[in-house]
Amino acid sequence: MEKESKRGSFTGQLGFVLAAAGSAVGVGNIWRFPYLAAKDGGGLFLIVYLILVLTFGFTLLTSDIATGRKTGKSAIGAYTEMNPKWKFLGVLTFFVPVIIMTYYAVIGGWITKYMVDYFTGHGKAAAADGYFSAFISNPVESVIYAAFFMVLTAVVIYRGVEKGIESCSRFMMPVLLVLIVFVAVYSLFIHHGDRNGLQGFLVYITPNVKGLTLKKFLSLLLDAMSQLFFSLSVSMGIMITYGSYVKKEVDLNRAVSQIEIFDTGVALLAGMAIIPSIYVFSGLDGMNAGPGLMFISLPKVFASMGFFGNIVGAAFFLMAVFATLTSCISVLEAITANCMEVFHSERHKTTLVLGIIYTIASIVIALGYSIFYCEIPLPNGTVGQLLDLMDYISNSVMMPFISLLSTILIGWIVRPKWIIGEVETGGVRFHRKQLYIVMVRFVCPVIMVVLFLQSTGLLSKL
Ligand code: PFF
Repeated sequence: MEKESKRGSFTGQLGFVLAAAGSAVGVGNIWRFPYLAAKDGGGLFLIVYLILVLTFGFTLLTSDIATGRKTGKSAIGAYTEMNPKWKFLGVLTFFVPVIIMTYYAVIGGWITKYMVDYFTGHGKAAAADGYFSAFISNPVESVIYAAFFMVLTAVVIYRGVEKGIESCSRFMMPVLLVLIVFVAVYSLFIHHGDRNGLQGFLVYITPNVKGLTLKKFLSLLLDAMSQLFFSLSVSMGIMITYGSYVKKEVDLNRAVSQIEIFDTGVALLAGMAIIPSIYVFSGLDGMNAGPGLMFISLPKVFASMGFFGNIVGAAFFLMAVFATLTSCISVLEAITANCMEVFHSERHKTTLVLGIIYTIASIVIALGYSIFYCEIPLPNGTVGQLLDLMDYISNSVMMPFISLLSTILIGWIVRPKWIIGEVETGGVRFHRKQLYIVMVRFVCPVIMVVLFLQSTGLLSKL
């Protein structure tokens, strides 16, 4: 009890699920998922993604949360406790949020800027050609927004687990859900020329297998897989930290299912909000907008909606700010919790130091589009700026590698019963136990190797 109150904890099942869903639901759901679905054949991507959530997602999420609760520690301490020889895996895992934190607030700043535009009635301006690139390459404005978002995140962490993280998620997640449902339903009723929202919705959910080759399917599979890691916030120590704040009476089996449903539900709704609108106003060609979908195509769609465009745009970007803020909070919390354990420091001082470090880091990354502009060739054949480099290292290289090692550790060294025992605490029934064992021992390690080779560009060299 002493240990629990000193570290802080979530008040119960709902508080934990909302906070974990807050971490999981972020730019990944709202911006990345819809553009991948548009690119990878609509319904086909959705089916593959759903299967992966129920198998891989469930396995990795259960492992992370149960590890956290069982050890009561964050990644470094937790892996050390599992097996002292595997401390390096904890340290490696710790570095994922350390890297993500350098750029997540920058994206949060971009979204906040758009939200402010819509709330102040300047949504039309945001639809102009070159608006987004002019904003990110403006060294003053982009830096102010990034720093603001970072400071806001640090303030929540400073307030602690219950008063900061949980109360923030308890307020923001339900509002987010209402807003995304509103925008998604609205998009079904729009029409323009001879196209309407319902047709767009069918484009979104109908599996498009025209011209499908094995190679294309493999690339879809890998897109869906890396999206899954990012979206569920697994293999980066975040869910280990959050798991460590969960009380023993919480039913982990149910909590994992609820987080999966929340995260996937919001991703599906975000696709439903975005893809039909893009289809109605720009046709099938609009679907190929890629990463520019949210900041470039969507404002144009809102502008074409006339008067309602500003309202829908404001609702959409407010929802996106909430989603990004609750995720950003979880990234900083994972770093803070590890630092507190390693340095035996207290929360306020730790947050203050990390807040300063990351405000500076966010400024540097935000300036990667102006003063520090550079073109970095990445091993997967793309060219990126500082932000893309950080994203590539954390998501494409480290996360698949960490998942691979953690499933080997759990599947073959500490054995699945270590996790299963924790899930079954208090007589809880672990519904997908057999699936968990097969996944963690056999399927995950093999697929992770393929994913790692693909995302580092090594697969094409073999
Ligand atoms: N899961 C969040 C999303 O889908 O946007 C993103 C995220 C949160 C990524 C926290 C990484 C992270 F550490």
